[in-house]
Amino acid sequence: MTTTLTAAELEILSTKAIAAKATAYCPYSKFRVGACLLTAQGEYISGANVENASYPVGTCAERVAFGTAVVAGHRDFKAIAIASDIKPGATPCGMCRQFMREFITPSFPVYMYDVDGNYTVKTIGELLPDSFGPDDLSKE
Ligand code: THU
Repeated sequence: MTTTLTAAELEILSTKAIAAKATAYCPYSKFRVGACLLTAQGEYISGANVENASYPVGTCAERVAFGTAVVAGHRDFKAIAIASDIKPGATPCGMCRQFMREFITPSFPVYMYDVDGNYTVKTIGELLPDSFGPDDLSKE
């Protein structure tokens, strides 16, 4: 089951994720990705991919958004939107799925926007089934 956002929340979230594409630093791939995260407190926190001359060091938009939110003190989140210039929209990489999983539950919705502003939505439970999370560390 997917958490329901209001139409207004989704409109703001998508607008900010699409706008965040313009802040991407991606001179190597030229593949822009923007993201926007909605916190439980109703704040919108954006991110974009930041690449590096040492290619594997680059960071995806999703991890920039989550990292920014976490260091600002946020721990609870309602949804993320990810925007790219392809069709259908890019889905988060495996590393980002696990990174996000740390802070969210299986029903957390991931909205993926394509170049035309159309979206598909999946839960993190669909994108990362049978995941390993913080609770597993305390099990015996
Ligand atoms: N990228 C993201 O930022 N998020 C995704 O969901 C897919 C891929 C970035 C990583 C790299 O900077 C570029 O897109 C090409 O892989």
